[in-house]
Amino acid sequence: MELYIDSANLLHIKECVDLGCISGVTTNPSLMAKEDASLDPKEIILDIFKTVGGHVSVEVISTKADGMLREADEILKWFPEATIKIPMIAEGLKACRKLADQEIPTNVTLVFSPAQAIAATNAGAAYVSVFMGRLDDVAISSEEVLTDVCQIWEVQGYESLIIAASIRHPIHLVEAARSGADIATVPYKALMQSLNHPLTGQGLAAFLADHAKMLEAASKI
Ligand code: E4P
Repeated sequence: MELYIDSANLLHIKECVDLGCISGVTTNPSLMAKEDASLDPKEIILDIFKTVGGHVSVEVISTKADGMLREADEILKWFPEATIKIPMIAEGLKACRKLADQEIPTNVTLVFSPAQAIAATNAGAAYVSVFMGRLDDVAISSEEVLTDVCQIWEVQGYESLIIAASIRHPIHLVEAARSGADIATVPYKALMQSLNHPLTGQGLAAFLADHAKMLEAASKI
């Protein structure tokens, strides 16, 4: 499973990319809205791409296929490497199919059920983003849904890549990996949390203390 960062914050993205474990970035209108309004959204996206050098999903706003296709056309003019992120609605499937027929990569998002995921992959989605946190918020086991989707992919031999999205904490990340997702797109906070463990901190402190004791003992010889 690959790790993407789910953010439009360039500082957070840079910090995570520097760790050497991030291969892509997903954005959405809410994440973009959190950034400095004085900045040109195009510049934010292009700076993100310069930083990560890999997958960057850019979400359309239109809810009609024609509008989505116009937006995608515009995005690809200034960012030809973009993956176009499209909501899992009927109009989105129409747009996805047309973009897929032009071999333009799409990321169908706001997917909450295996049935939606099946529709998205049959419409030619390159990526299918299955949301975890928002499912758990309504007392539906996101791990069960994601495992279902991954098992269906296995049985059917579907080629779209499954992105575990709406990740809220490290457990979601582990569940996504256990379920068989191809990618987990993780917010900065959850990613940083996933790197830390109290026993690691304690263990490193003990190593350093013992090393200091050894040097001190050696200096007295
Ligand atoms: C993917 O990029 C999704 O838009 C994102 O993971 C949604 O996360 P949220 O449910 O925390 O808003």
